[in-house]
Amino acid sequence: MEKDTKTGQPKWEDGKLKITAISPINIALIKYWGKVNEEYIIPLNSSLSITLSTDDLCSTTSVYLSDQFENDTLTLNGESEEFTTRIQGMMKVIRDQVPEDGIEVEGKKVTKEELLKMHVSVVSDNNFPTASGVASSSSGLSCLALCLAKIYGCDMDMTEISKLARLGSGSACRSLFGGYVEWDRGFDNLEEVDSNLETIGKNSKAVLIQDEKHWPDLCCCICVADSSQKKVSSTKGMKTSVETSEFLKHREKVIVPKHLSMIKDALKDKDWNALSEIIMKESNSLHSVCLDTYPPIFYQNDTTKALISMVHDLNNNHYEPIAAYTVDAGANVFLITPEKNLKFLLNTVKDLAGLSDDKIKFSFEKDVESEHNQVDGDAMTKIENEYKSKINLHQIIVTRVGKGVTIIDK
Ligand code: DP6
Repeated sequence: MEKDTKTGQPKWEDGKLKITAISPINIALIKYWGKVNEEYIIPLNSSLSITLSTDDLCSTTSVYLSDQFENDTLTLNGESEEFTTRIQGMMKVIRDQVPEDGIEVEGKKVTKEELLKMHVSVVSDNNFPTASGVASSSSGLSCLALCLAKIYGCDMDMTEISKLARLGSGSACRSLFGGYVEWDRGFDNLEEVDSNLETIGKNSKAVLIQDEKHWPDLCCCICVADSSQKKVSSTKGMKTSVETSEFLKHREKVIVPKHLSMIKDALKDKDWNALSEIIMKESNSLHSVCLDTYPPIFYQNDTTKALISMVHDLNNNHYEPIAAYTVDAGANVFLITPEKNLKFLLNTVKDLAGLSDDKIKFSFEKDVESEHNQVDGDAMTKIENEYKSKINLHQIIVTRVGKGVTIIDK
């Protein structure tokens, strides 16, 4: 069993320095869509996400340093990948912060000069199939940020490390913390951005809103409706939206500030009625921006739309919402639900999609307390008739709120 090393110290392995971390994915409840600056990765609006448990989905990343490496390399799920400009940017920030007197690892001193001469090898693996279509950049790059900060002995807390992760991929900054996390965009008014980029770069960071123990029973069924690579990447899609969507401007000015303030209250009060409504409206708002983008971007497919309608039909036939859906830049649907509804919701979707048990990944099944017969028979029959042939899923991954990135002893 791998154990957490809270101290997060690197170690020696075969003459190389090594450190390893595991990191969660997060799913945005208030969506990040659009940048005001591409180089610093400053978002147009603040966003807020739920961190999902590393027990079910995580990236494990090891960083090695050695003067025997000939260049910097990156291996992702066993395949050699390009050491991107963004990762080089993260390396630059880190190398500028190496302590003057170097580091000491297991009693052996390494000077700053020696550290800076070494090349880096990054090896990252996901415990979920790449083919699941579940984005791994939030987990992979948050893991890398923590590993780099620790192996180079930089004096950075989690907030500082979130800014580093942001440079790898915006949404990654939110995986530094567990629970419910805001990415504070770092400025009040759009007008101040151009003249203050460096300051805003320092202010744009992840902020813990509520940790994972505050509302531990929120669960998530990830309905994998499309396992292929996205046709339009988030990076590219949001750039086109910034260039062409009028609605995105309204979202920045009016919708997001309202949703952000409402969701923080809903989280504080554990108000499921309010929370579920904001989650769904936010998702719809993102996809409205995508439609308003020119040319329009279609991330949802027929299954996505059927699942969204199905959630509304279930919710309309119960005294309180059973689930909330949220959809990122893809067709997969994330269904958020309190634990008491989880088994009912999962069985409903599983039956409608005609999925066999081996297509369901549900590691904490035995511990789940559930309410039964949540929607009456007639309403259920109608829902079954309506959606039976419309939901086409590859698999469902069941998970729940969890903790942030952690160094492990591996
Ligand atoms: C729809 O973080 O992948 O998932 O910053 O360009 O790397 P870059 O984009 P990325 O965008 C994520 C967009 C989203 C919404 C969200 O996670 O908030």
